[in-house]
Amino acid sequence: MILVTGGAGFIGANFVLEWLAQFDETVINLDVLTYAGNHENLASLADDERHLFVQGDIGDSDLVASLLSRHQPRAIINFAAESHVDRSIHGPEDFIQTNIVGTFRMLEAVRAYWSNLPDEAGQSFRFLHVSTDEVYGSLAKDDPAFTETYRYEPNSPYSASKAASDHLVRAYHHTYGLPVLTTNCSNNYGPYHFPEKLIPLMIVNALAGKSLPVYGDGRQIRDWLYVKDHCSAIRRVLDAGNVGEVYNIGGWNEKPNIGIVHTVCALLDELRVRDDGKSYREQITYVTDRPGHDRRYAIDASKIERELGWKPAETFDTGIRKTVQWYLENQSWVANVQSGAYREWVEKNYTGRAV
Ligand code: NAD
Ligand code: DAU
Repeated sequence: MILVTGGAGFIGANFVLEWLAQFDETVINLDVLTYAGNHENLASLADDERHLFVQGDIGDSDLVASLLSRHQPRAIINFAAESHVDRSIHGPEDFIQTNIVGTFRMLEAVRAYWSNLPDEAGQSFRFLHVSTDEVYGSLAKDDPAFTETYRYEPNSPYSASKAASDHLVRAYHHTYGLPVLTTNCSNNYGPYHFPEKLIPLMIVNALAGKSLPVYGDGRQIRDWLYVKDHCSAIRRVLDAGNVGEVYNIGGWNEKPNIGIVHTVCALLDELRVRDDGKSYREQITYVTDRPGHDRRYAIDASKIERELGWKPAETFDTGIRKTVQWYLENQSWVANVQSGAYREWVEKNYTGRAV
């Protein structure tokens, strides 16, 4: 079996659902269920005995040690993290706690478990750490895309905490020989994306008749990948990646934020015409920028393509259409995640921001 952490969040849930749809191998899913973790994402697995959900913290060393010794997983995929840049600006503490201290405690428990595995099991064991392109910092307009050897220059408390966790993972390989793999992926989008992030926020605000808050001039560039393509890349790295190596994951899909918002509006104009027949674009509002806002991210995915033969299955056009359709068909999921805590967050992040 495998152990997945953070498997009730956006990417982790997509990964677990796809894993169990494709393989007959049990998944232990360790997730503390923060505001971003949602059991409803895994509702279709309610009667599936191959899914063992454990509510708990990756920083709880005793719990992690007991799960490892009881279930003897052959691999761990570490998704668990605080993941939202704006939240890290309002309150970095949780990011330090989970992303750095939590990863460190996981690594310690995993090292103890792995060092006692019999030879063959020890050699085939893998700890795959899921990270982000944000650790590389911000690119100027004409800079080449991030390769795996690009220098680390994180700019937000979120990216700094992910960078620290990447360094710890690297050090555990270099010092102790722990068989690790690290992936650094670009921006994901798709089903179950929590509506604090750009694409789902724009979809749910548009449908609710609310404003579409674009930070600054909206010309910042992100490199978008459909979440299921990220999951297929992780599976490929887990299967065939070289121990100790880093793989950048991306789909060569750089887009300015305002272009993303226009695309979402155009799809909604087509699929759910506004009552007054006007375009959802009318709801766009430019608001005060994110402090320290990175201008451009771009992933050079040649290594994973060349060495592991991975390629994304979706283009941006097919992926974004599927995503908008998913939100239209899953309005009750949206309503359920918009709890009191969600409304408090929206008030904290957006009140007083409009310009
Ligand atoms: P998310 O915020 O949607 O989900 C994170 C999950 O981790 C939640 O289910 C949460 O409950 C759980 N969690 C948080 N703290 C925990 C703890 N201490 N112990 C156990 N579980 C805990 O995040 P996501 O967007 O799915 O991102 C998953 C991973 O992928 C993160 O490591 C993130 O840095 C990385 N990543 C995300 C993107 C993206 O675009 N979303 C891109 C590249 C990399
Ligand atoms: O690059 C990978 C990263 O992508 C992941 O590591 C992070 O976990 C993930 O949250 C994401 O970070 P971003 O900051 O790029 O994503 P977000 O959706 O928050 O913002 C995308 C862009 O849209 C960014 O330039 C900020 C802008 N934005 C965002 C929000 C929420 C807006 O203009 N308005 C908004 O309301």
